[in-house]
Amino acid sequence: MSSESENSGFEFLKKKISGERGFNCSYYKESILKRRIDSRMRRTEIDSYKDYVSLLDRSPQEYNALIDTLTVNVTEFFRNPLVFKAMEEVIIPNLLFYKKIQSRKVIRVWSAGCASGEEPYSVAILFKEFLGDEIDDYVFFVTATDIDDNILDKAREGIYTADQMKNVTKERLDNYFNEVAGKYQVKDSIKKYVKFRHHDVISGEETHYFDLILCRNLLIYLSRGVQDEIFERFLRSLNPYGYLVIGKSETLTPEAAKRFELIDLCERIYRKPP
Ligand SMILES: C[S@@+](CC[C@H](N)C(=O)[O-])C[C@H]1O[C@@H](n2cnc3c(N)ncnc32)[C@H](O)[C@@H]1O
Repeated sequence: MSSESENSGFEFLKKKISGERGFNCSYYKESILKRRIDSRMRRTEIDSYKDYVSLLDRSPQEYNALIDTLTVNVTEFFRNPLVFKAMEEVIIPNLLFYKKIQSRKVIRVWSAGCASGEEPYSVAILFKEFLGDEIDDYVFFVTATDIDDNILDKAREGIYTADQMKNVTKERLDNYFNEVAGKYQVKDSIKKYVKFRHHDVISGEETHYFDLILCRNLLIYLSRGVQDEIFERFLRSLNPYGYLVIGKSETLTPEAAKRFELIDLCERIYRKPP
């Protein structure tokens, strides 16, 4: 196949996916998209984009498998434990300090690109441990969003296998999970703080007044221009002195670096200046 018809086949496929599945390919880095789509084509032993488009029309299963490959739902509880330590030791005490001096009792956290829920549940556990029973004197909730509806269903269910719990201490397992047929389900005492919903971090409506935004291991897939727009959105969505945490292998764009205050470079923690 000529590279011209290969390119037009690839462009057609991207438009098809964006139009039919709400996964807007134009936001994502082309090299990553290509690698992921090519890997599905190899698995299905198809070597032209045109034939792969026909397969997607015939096989909803393959379409779902492709979307799974594109969204990359990999996550775990307390992923990168040092970030969670910094949340425990720096972010949460500082946020609560400002809440106290402002006599405000609302704490809003947003986990953007929450995948199967391990990240928002981990944060809810940290706040619960820090505040103890006092947590219910606050209106505390974690908004957890993703574009993948299947993974959101799994997140709402909150059931995980033993190997997904590798960073969870025995004490936390006992306190916050019920054992169900060899798996672990998040207890309602934590679930009640986490609200899952479908939302696209790039094009979804803007919500404001967050004290902490986690957007980890999602930005890395997006083109630089789209990242710039998202950082601007996060600035508008955060309260003054609100924190932003991005993934360990992600960086702020040069534009965004001028707008956020750096708190911890190693753990990728930033703050919105007042
Ligand atoms: C690798 S997971 C990261 C999960 C978690 N934040 C972590 O770091 O462990 C990336 C998630 O981002 C979601 N995602 C990708 N593009 C998105 C978008 N435009 N808006 C919201 N979520 C998106 C994917 O569906 C996937 O579940």
